[in-house]
Amino acid sequence: MDRATHSLERDEMKFFIDSADVGEIRKALALGLCDGVTTNPSLVAKTGRRFDEVLAEIVALRPGPVSAEVTALDFDGMIREAHHYAAFGDQVVVKVPLIVEGLKAVKALSAEQIKTNVTLCFSPVQALLAAKAGATYVSPFVGRLDDVSEDGMAMVEQILEIYRNYAFETEVLVASVRHPIHVLQAARMGADVATIPFKVIEQLAQHPLTDRGLQQFLADWEKVPKS
Ligand code: E4P
Repeated sequence: MDRATHSLERDEMKFFIDSADVGEIRKALALGLCDGVTTNPSLVAKTGRRFDEVLAEIVALRPGPVSAEVTALDFDGMIREAHHYAAFGDQVVVKVPLIVEGLKAVKALSAEQIKTNVTLCFSPVQALLAAKAGATYVSPFVGRLDDVSEDGMAMVEQILEIYRNYAFETEVLVASVRHPIHVLQAARMGADVATIPFKVIEQLAQHPLTDRGLQQFLADWEKVPKS
């Protein structure tokens, strides 16, 4: 890949849904706005269901890459969990936290051709380490950085700059998306993927002037002679 074109002239921007709720995933698929799924332990806890059962259902929907997160903190435990989740199908992407043991695990999994998503990334240099470990995706958490008065999207901009400088293959998956402006900024920067909560996917289509304009057109249509 040309180093100037990383993430710029490749595929179109992908929308993943950030959810472990099978109903929401089905709805996003029906909208044609789901190119993949990301889950995390908190999202799984909200379902009140066993993760293995949920993961099998999500994979059966064939929504594209599905991130399943390990919870072990040591290399051996992470690899064990990674193998368990990878066995659910080749759509599964093993989500690994951005800690030293996690980076070691990502390197080993990448050598085994198991896809990885390095999560809980809060700085451009952390993202550089994820790319050097051979991660398939890196997930910078923009909303959580904004929450502590830092600029989440500025982090994404720097990650994209670094990856383009060296033509790293790791895809930038903008995570912790809270509102449509995050999606707009991610698209303008040429991020590969945004993982978006279902509520925000719905907000993307909404505009009060669209609703008002439609109401007016329908009212005026009533005045048009029909025969
Ligand atoms: C990403 O993969 C995470 O699941 C998610 O985006 C975290 O978002 P939050 O900060 O809204 O919990």
